[in-house]
Amino acid sequence: MLGAWGLAMAQGLAVTLLLQPLPTQSHGEQISIRRGYQVYKQVCAACHSMEYLAFRNLIGVSHTEAEAKALAEEAEVVDGPDENGEMFTRPGKLSDYFPKPYPNPEAARAANNGALPPDLSYIISARHGGEDYVFSLLTGYCDPPTGVVMREELHYNPYFPGQAIAMAPPIYSEILEFEDGTPATMSQIAKDVCTFLRWAAEPEHDHRKRMGMKMLIMAGLLVPLTYYLKRHRWSVLKSRKIAYRPPK
Ligand code: HEC
Repeated sequence: MLGAWGLAMAQGLAVTLLLQPLPTQSHGEQISIRRGYQVYKQVCAACHSMEYLAFRNLIGVSHTEAEAKALAEEAEVVDGPDENGEMFTRPGKLSDYFPKPYPNPEAARAANNGALPPDLSYIISARHGGEDYVFSLLTGYCDPPTGVVMREELHYNPYFPGQAIAMAPPIYSEILEFEDGTPATMSQIAKDVCTFLRWAAEPEHDHRKRMGMKMLIMAGLLVPLTYYLKRHRWSVLKSRKIAYRPPK
């Protein structure tokens, strides 16, 4: 944001970039999370890992247990060593974490002109603006303003701090076909993947809110009761009179 502002000022333009606020997440977002997972898997996973998410995490959120199992089995997981000391590959299990596109950060950099695609598990919590930022970033690519020369492997994006991002525009309309038939427009794809990433960064969100509500209701009952009891118990002590009677 500040970077974009700085550049705009330097060019004598009065431009402020406002992040497009996404609709608030709620219960009915599970279908969006499911589509978002599809986007992650078919597009983002080519470059970005999500190493803190396991296939079992999808169960009951976006997929059934059988579906999650089938997804896991598509992945090839290196396991071992076996009795001969060799590592071997096997189909994934529910307890396995999402497969990584690159074996190590160096390989990731080497494949991306030296830029490291960050792990997306907690990216929504790790950026100011959260999912609004990521949505704007994904849909905000445009031509650089006149006079701004970009290095060849960088792309102009006014939402990225510094405006020059090493990630090529990852999504466009119809880049994939949603399995539920939702029209795959660019903003739909971006919104769904953001909803998915939001959930991934904070899977306990709904549970936390529900617990908070329960806590408030119980506290609303118990706190006045405790206060009444306290007054009741102390009333004897507080209303007594202590007098000194000197011996005669
Ligand atoms: C071709 C590889 C590639 C694909 C596909 C890709 N990215 Fe990236 N992404 C990168 C690289 C490289 C960076 C690092 C950019 C930089 O530091 O300049 C990056 C950075 C990011 C960032 C961090 C931006 C920041 O503020 O630091 C986010 C968020 C992101 N990508 C989201 C996505 C999402 C969501 C998708 C799928 C829709 C996706 N990317 C697909 C290569 C990719």
